[in-house]
Formats: sequence, structure tokens, C-alpha cells
Amino acid sequence: MWKWTGRTCCGVAHVALCKPRVLGFEIDAVNSVQFSNHTGYTHWSGQVLNSSELQELYKGLKLNCVNKYDYVLTGYTRDASFLSMVVDIVQELKQQNSRLVYVCDPVLGDKWDGEGRMYVPEDLLPVYREKVVPVADIITPNQFEAELLSGRKIRSQEEALVVMDVLHSMGPDTVVITSSNLPAPRGSDYLIALGSQRTRRPDGSTVTQRIRMEMRKVDAVFVGTGDLFAAMLLAWTHKHPDNLKVACEKTLSAMHHVLQRTIQCAKAQAGEGRKPNPAQLELRMVQSKKDIEDPEIVVQATVL
Ligand SMILES: Nc1ncnc2c1ncn2[C@@H]1O[C@H](COP(=O)(O)OP(=O)(O)O)[C@@H](O)[C@H]1O
Ligand SMILES: *[C@@H]1O[C@H](CO)[C@@H](O)[C@H](O)[C@H]1NC(C)=O
Ligand SMILES: *[C@@H]1O[C@H](CO)[C@@H](O)[C@H](O)[C@H]1NC(C)=O
Repeated sequence: MWKWTGRTCCGVAHVALCKPRVLGFEIDAVNSVQFSNHTGYTHWSGQVLNSSELQELYKGLKLNCVNKYDYVLTGYTRDASFLSMVVDIVQELKQQNSRLVYVCDPVLGDKWDGEGRMYVPEDLLPVYREKVVPVADIITPNQFEAELLSGRKIRSQEEALVVMDVLHSMGPDTVVITSSNLPAPRGSDYLIALGSQRTRRPDGSTVTQRIRMEMRKVDAVFVGTGDLFAAMLLAWTHKHPDNLKVACEKTLSAMHHVLQRTIQCAKAQAGEGRKPNPAQLELRMVQSKKDIEDPEIVVQATVL
């Protein structure tokens, strides 16, 4: 569908502006960085786009009156002024199309060994809380990011549901906590993801559907999984706007297929008993085309 570049810890981010077409999406991708390699590699070099350069690109679209989009997708960002510029652009795009859906992966950090650590500058947090999340329609934080954005800890499923309600009250109708360290019924080999979707009835009242999913952990560090997740969630919520359960089942199932193919290929390349390197662990996206387009459902969501 489109180019999804790595996010983890350091690297390659992008803004994607999308208009849905027959089966896929027509994409205008803005490379907020252009690097030789993601930063998990030993060597990498390239350029970083700054906020005035982003504004310049947007100005060009506007002058040609081709600034009508249905979706905006953003990921890893390290610069507060760049992030603010993204929000300004999203707001203007929403004036052009009031139905525009902004999908935001609020990349802030992660929990390793139970201890949360931010891997973007701390001045991004207030920008996410005060400017980005209020204009976002769909957000995909991990547990640590959901805690930072809501200002509350998650120690149980109940607390996670409260946190998702707090996040709804800040703006987005759809919240997916993509991974958490909550105990999984199937054991410590599994990670828990949670989702919550608020829909408005014609009479103005709201209903909230909440779901839980379990996904088998793979013993490797991948780069680009967060971007892949957010991009597929965008596509599947487009197909199933009022059914987060189905959208998440397809997203997580496709994730499973991509990661299984990737780890199997990586292990074969690394050889018996050797740890695969970052190049061997590159997500097998092209090889997984069919799984991405029509994933066999292997992850079932539970409605809470
Ligand atoms: N090692 C892994 N094992 C299983 N699933 C993974 C693994 N790494 C990433 N994923 C999948 O990728 C999704 C995004 O993960 P990640 O890139 O760590 O972003 P986040 O930190 O936002 O959860 C997770 O929801 C999970 O489905
Ligand atoms: C990065 O480096 C590897 C070699 O380590 C190379 O095979 C690959 O094509 C490079 N580019 C990307 C985008 O990974
Ligand atoms: C962005 O980069 C351009 C060069 O392309 C430079 O002239 C400008 O001052 C930079 N702006 C900011 C805000 O850093």
C-alpha cells in the first residue's frame, strides 16, 4: 500500500496523506527524514526535514488546490516545532474536508524491563497532550505512552479502561493500546492489546465498545512494527468504521503473519543458534502482500 518506514527509538518517520481508492489507498508520503538505513544499523546517514520545509511542501499542495485528503497518518517525530506544524496542517486539512480522519501514533517511549523510558525529547509530551491528541481521531499508544498522555498508571485491565476513557475525553473516538505488560490468560508468552471505540448515536448519546486481544510474543526486536500497525489499522477502520473488533482482528492477524514470516526468514539467514542482525530482521513486507491484503484471522478479540 504505502511506504512504512521504521520508528523504533531513533529513526525514520513520515507523514502520510491519503485518499482511499478502489482497493488500496493513494498516498502522498512526506518523508520527515530520508536515511540510508534505519538507525538500528551500525551506519546511517541522510537528511531531516524541518518544520519550515514541511510548511513549504504543504504550501505547494495548497497553491494547486490539491490539499483534499481523507486520512492523515503520522508516526515518530523528534521535534516539537515540526509536530506543531503537523497539527496546523491537519487543522487546515480538516477545514477542507470535515470528514478527514487523523490517525496518530504518539511515539514517546516504551517500557523495557518494566521501567518506562522516553526516547523523544520531553518537550514533545505537552505538544502531544495539548495539541496533537485533541485533533486526532484514532491513536495507537503503547501502555507507557497511554500512561504519559493520560497522566495515569495502568496496573490492571480496569485501570487501562479508565485510561482509554480519559484519552477519549481528550479527543479521539478510537484508542488502541497496541501492547501492554498486563498479565495474559494464555501466559507470559503473550502480550495484551486493548481497544476502545466511542460511537455517537443519532440522538447524540454515545456508546463505547471495548475489546482485548492476545498476541504471541516473538523473541526479537523489529523496526517498523508500530508504523505497520497504525497503517493497517487505518486501512481496516476505513473498511469497518463501526467495528473496531473486526478492524483489530485483521490488523493483529496481519501483524502475526508478517512477524512470523520475518522471524523464520531471519533465523534461516542467521543460521542455527545465531542471533539475526537488523538487516536480517527487516520486515518481509513485499513477501507478505497477500497476508496484508486479506489476512487469515488468527487473533480473536474479546468484547469486554
Ligand atoms: N517482538 C514482538 N512480538 C510480537 N509482536 C510484536 C513484537 N514487536 C512488535 N509487535 C507487534 O507490533 C505492534 C507494535 O509494536 P511496537 O512497534 O513495539 O509499538 P508500540 O510500542 O506502539 O506497541 C504490537 O502491537 C505487536 O502487535
Ligand atoms: C541498509 O544496509 C543493508 C546492509 O546492511 C542493505 O542491505 C540495505 O539495502 C540498506 N538499506 C535499507 C533501507 O535497509
Ligand atoms: C530549515 O532548513 C532550511 C534549509 O533547508 C533553513 O534555511 C531553515 O532556517 C531551517 N528552519 C528551521 C526552523 O530550522
